[in-house]
Amino acid sequence: MEQDLVPSTETINKEEHLAQFNKPNSYYGFEENEYIPKLEDYKPQLQTTNAGKKEAQLMKDTVQKWLDSKNGWLTIIGGVGIGKTHLMKAITKLGNCYYLTAYEFDYRIKKFRNSYDTNENFVDPDDWVQNIGTMERRLILDDIGAGYIDKGWTTKRFERLIDLRYRNQRPTALTSNLSGKELEKELGDRIISRITDVNISRVLLCTNTKDLRLKRR
Ligand SMILES: Nc1ncnc2c1ncn2[C@@H]1O[C@H](COP(=O)(O)OP(=O)(O)O)[C@@H](O)[C@H]1O
Ligand SMILES: [Mg+2]
Repeated sequence: MEQDLVPSTETINKEEHLAQFNKPNSYYGFEENEYIPKLEDYKPQLQTTNAGKKEAQLMKDTVQKWLDSKNGWLTIIGGVGIGKTHLMKAITKLGNCYYLTAYEFDYRIKKFRNSYDTNENFVDPDDWVQNIGTMERRLILDDIGAGYIDKGWTTKRFERLIDLRYRNQRPTALTSNLSGKELEKELGDRIISRITDVNISRVLLCTNTKDLRLKRR
């Protein structure tokens, strides 16, 4: 275990924290063999413009600040390939977070519904939402994008999740490649007014960072 990865935050006891690292990936919401990028491998200087480098550094600093905050909320909005997922995954174990993509959220809600239909291993989706909505652990909701969260059944539960996290003052980070306006269209104004409210959440709008995947091709 790399000791230097332990964040400066006082809220995390070092021994407890290192013990967290040994838990299976599923504890963090990851797949068993999922590749998890490292925080020190996120290099703001890889961005090609000065404004991009600065913004990427700000992204990294802001994400680290969120880890040090007690009940903070963070919303990162920016285009694809700028490293949002990289940063979020990199801090998941560091901050004992639970990592969930919007796509996965939708999938699980539907899976619950399907098991309900067939009466197999029924787990009430509302109980699951209640659990992750109220748990003290940090929650990361990555990749809130177009078409991922189905209207109706899933959106209602997503709304409930955001509402629970908010009312219980649970630290929550969200990322999206949609603009505020697009998000509102996708998810409705009740969710969006919360996650983009600067009184509640640190909102980072990234417009200068560019897709690094394009550079590699
Ligand atoms: N500043 C950076 N330093 C190192 N790798 C980066 C950086 N920005 C992006 N990447 C890499 O580019 C790829 C796309 O990043 P990703 O985190 O998936 O972007 P996003 O979630 O914003 O769409 C990943 O392989 C990621 O590790
Ligand atoms: Mg992503």
